[in-house]
Amino acid sequence: MQYRQLGKSSIQVSRIGFGCMSLKPGQPDLQHLIDLAIGNGINFFDTADLYNKGLNEEMIGATLKQKRKELYIATKVGNQWRPDGSGWDWNPSKAYIIQSVEGSLKRLQTDYIDLYQLHGGTIGDPIDETIEAFETLQKQGKIRYYGISSIRPNVIREYIKRSNIVSVMMQYSLLDRRPEEECLQLLEKNNIGVLARGTIASGLLINKPATDYLDHPAETVSAAARELESISLRERTAVQSAIGFVFSHTSITAAITGIRTTDQLLEIIKTIDSPTLSLKTYQDLIKKIPPNFYKDHR
Ligand SMILES: NC(=O)c1ccc[n+]([C@@H]2O[C@H](COP(=O)([O-])OP(=O)(O)OC[C@H]3O[C@@H](n4cnc5c(N)ncnc54)[C@H](OP(=O)(O)O)[C@@H]3O)[C@@H](O)[C@H]2O)c1
Repeated sequence: MQYRQLGKSSIQVSRIGFGCMSLKPGQPDLQHLIDLAIGNGINFFDTADLYNKGLNEEMIGATLKQKRKELYIATKVGNQWRPDGSGWDWNPSKAYIIQSVEGSLKRLQTDYIDLYQLHGGTIGDPIDETIEAFETLQKQGKIRYYGISSIRPNVIREYIKRSNIVSVMMQYSLLDRRPEEECLQLLEKNNIGVLARGTIASGLLINKPATDYLDHPAETVSAAARELESISLRERTAVQSAIGFVFSHTSITAAITGIRTTDQLLEIIKTIDSPTLSLKTYQDLIKKIPPNFYKDHR
């Protein structure tokens, strides 16, 4: 495994982070899967209070408990379930964040969260108030660092200016290159870590039947998957090429990959030892798949 400093924090995270959203409630092999990930050097786990209404945090808390001190847990806040459970509403208020951390700490069976992330964000939010909530929790020792999970350039710019975020989680892959337009360079310049998610487009870049994705028609999605397959040959698998593509950008601290099975885990981990994409391979790839750009939230 390789490790990288997460922005200005003192945390060294594994370049492959474990995205916990894919885990299934009651999954019988969970402890084995998590232990295998830790045994292979993964030290960073990403969950959210939203996933399965808190059950995902509970699953992670129970399985990471024994090795808690050696690991880094990231979770998220900002989406409030309606009392009738019919869905959730966006709530970035200070009161809600301060109150929500208690539930996450309890479900995670810990007394501190390494990285507490705002689970979204809009330009219309009371941003200073939201930041105040994270600063307060940091002073109280309930969180070590905070970040945002946002793909909106206008929101990211405000947090860079006004807050002490150490990271931004962004969707980034061969099929979603919007972060390249502005955000990746800006974050790198400000020494803020980038946690790339959706690096295999939830499987569309590998083996899932092609569908439209963002502004790409299904034909482009199939073409991207075919290209990844063709550049892989015996050197890598398509999964490793897809994650390798993301690692080609120097700003990326870690890929937060959605893992559900041991086979998926082992294939993803081997990305670290597989040959990096050569400059020529990378350039050929981006010539063949058109980049996409932000239309909103610029
Ligand atoms: N807004 C946010 O903050 C936000 C949003 C989305 C995700 N996330 C975080 O980012 C993580 C990753 O996101 P993601 O799940 O959308 O994206 P992803 O990593 O692109 O896709 C993960 C999915 O790809 C499939 N997969 C994994 N390994 C594979 C392999 N070796 N071969 C073939 N298929 C494989 C699995 O699908 P199957 O389970 O169907 O096999 C898995 O669920 C999440 O777990 C979560 O922690 C955050």
